[in-house]
Amino acid sequence: MKSGYQKYIPFTPVPIENRQWPSKTIEKAPIWCSVDLRDGNQALIDPMNLQEKLEMFKTLIDIGIKEIEVGFPSASETEYEILRTLIDEKYIPDDVTIQVLVQAREHLIRKTFEAISGAKNVIVHFYNSTSTLQRKVVFKKDMDGIIDIAVNGAKLIKKLTDEMAGSGTNIRFEYSPESFSGTEMDNAVRICDEVMKALDANENNKVILNLPSTVEGSTPNGYADQIEYFCTHLADRKNAIISLHPHNDRGTAVAAAELGLLAGADRIEGTLFGNGERTGNVDIVTLALNMYTQAIDPKLDFHNINDIKEVFERTTKMSVGDRHPYAGKLVFTAFSGSHQDAINKGKEYMKTSNSDYWEIPYLPIDPADVGREYEPIIRINSQSGKGGAAYIMSTVFSFNLPKKMHPEFGAAVKAECDRVGTEIEPKQVFEIFEKEYLKVSGPYQLIKHKFIEESEVNDTSPKVRFDGIIKNNGFEPVEISGKGTGPIDAFFNALAKVGIEGYKFEDYSEHAISIGADAKAVSYIHLKTPDGKDCFGVGMSHNINYASIRGVLCAINRSLKK
Ligand code: KIV
Ligand code: ZN
Repeated sequence: MKSGYQKYIPFTPVPIENRQWPSKTIEKAPIWCSVDLRDGNQALIDPMNLQEKLEMFKTLIDIGIKEIEVGFPSASETEYEILRTLIDEKYIPDDVTIQVLVQAREHLIRKTFEAISGAKNVIVHFYNSTSTLQRKVVFKKDMDGIIDIAVNGAKLIKKLTDEMAGSGTNIRFEYSPESFSGTEMDNAVRICDEVMKALDANENNKVILNLPSTVEGSTPNGYADQIEYFCTHLADRKNAIISLHPHNDRGTAVAAAELGLLAGADRIEGTLFGNGERTGNVDIVTLALNMYTQAIDPKLDFHNINDIKEVFERTTKMSVGDRHPYAGKLVFTAFSGSHQDAINKGKEYMKTSNSDYWEIPYLPIDPADVGREYEPIIRINSQSGKGGAAYIMSTVFSFNLPKKMHPEFGAAVKAECDRVGTEIEPKQVFEIFEKEYLKVSGPYQLIKHKFIEESEVNDTSPKVRFDGIIKNNGFEPVEISGKGTGPIDAFFNALAKVGIEGYKFEDYSEHAISIGADAKAVSYIHLKTPDGKDCFGVGMSHNINYASIRGVLCAINRSLKK
């Protein structure tokens, strides 16, 4: 690639001064038009069959899209038949307008008008290529010749529409100077001015001027400059609806569409998840949800994004990437420890603050708004931090590990992730917890234990006595007993009698836990070892006192093993 780049012709920016769009913001949803069934469909390895197109059509309607380009009926018999089925079998709701694409050529326009008869609302969308490159290498015509093609097409469309007056079919017009973004702006304005005249554009007959970046060839600001230039130079702007049709060759179609809206556009043509020729059309899902997360009603409904994705993947046989904005499998998942911690804190904040706003770091949208609330937001791999493992223990298994235990347990989980080299499932996190705490069985084992409360009349500080039998691996069991102010104290004093000494009690917490129909107590014990190190233990029992002493013994056993 050393010198290959020299053969490319860079984008020529439009000469625009005092541009206005950079200081604007998007304030309302545009008119949406889906081109899934046309631009999206024509880019598929296996175009959708009738059933698939019908299912996609229904999904687009459910999302709330009111203008849908359903095909290119003059291009093939299949396309023609699909359109006839939509019309004859009354699949099109009254408030939805179907759009049909046609080249600005007489026989194709006539065939298109046959294909739409009987439909209620139709946009006839015609186009011809206007770019400098296409004029030079494909059409070998000057701009006047290209304008003639468009104007002749427009006149015929106007005539056929007038002939259909009173037929019950409402027809609107759309013209695309194809490859608009590769066209000199003055030529783009000139051809559209002429087309508007030929179509008799007026307040009641606004013409949609669709301005495609047929091949995306500039940074998004370059496209926005073109749109602003076009809007401000068009003779009759008020009688036009300016539509954008960005493709995604540079990966910036969403940004181009957003900046194009700032620059004065009213309407967007795009597809679900950005399917379309080559790198695709602009993604309507991302665009709409970007608006939603800026507190703007996008007027589209993606509350069930997984279902929409499923229909999309099945009917197009394309797949939505794992990191696709809002819809990808992994976009509501945090692996990094610091992200997990911040998300947890954000969730806690939302609970305690009663905030009316969505204020959770790392999550630009509430997953529940797009129907993703049941997915584990936090998943565990070797990048995950201490908070992640504790979060899984709490949300999936209801074990609320005290904060001080998080680093130790997190380290055990991380060691397992490093060992297996992959993400681990919640079930495996629990198995690590069991192995680390609940199934520690030595060196000391408690064979028998009981507590007795000993109090005398008027005794203000009653004593608890512990009696039990303890066994050290490889030794005979020994009886132990001790008294204390409470069960843990009594147990400690009993242990001292068999030489388990020097442990300092640091902290303790407990909670009830339901395991199936069974309710148990779980207690978490924090001790300092005789040489001053932290050690933790967990005990479970139906009896809270026994849960505590099991926790103490667990901590001691773990420290001795280490
Ligand atoms: O990308 C494009 O230019 C098109 C036109 C036909 C509108 O799809
Ligand atoms: Zn296109």
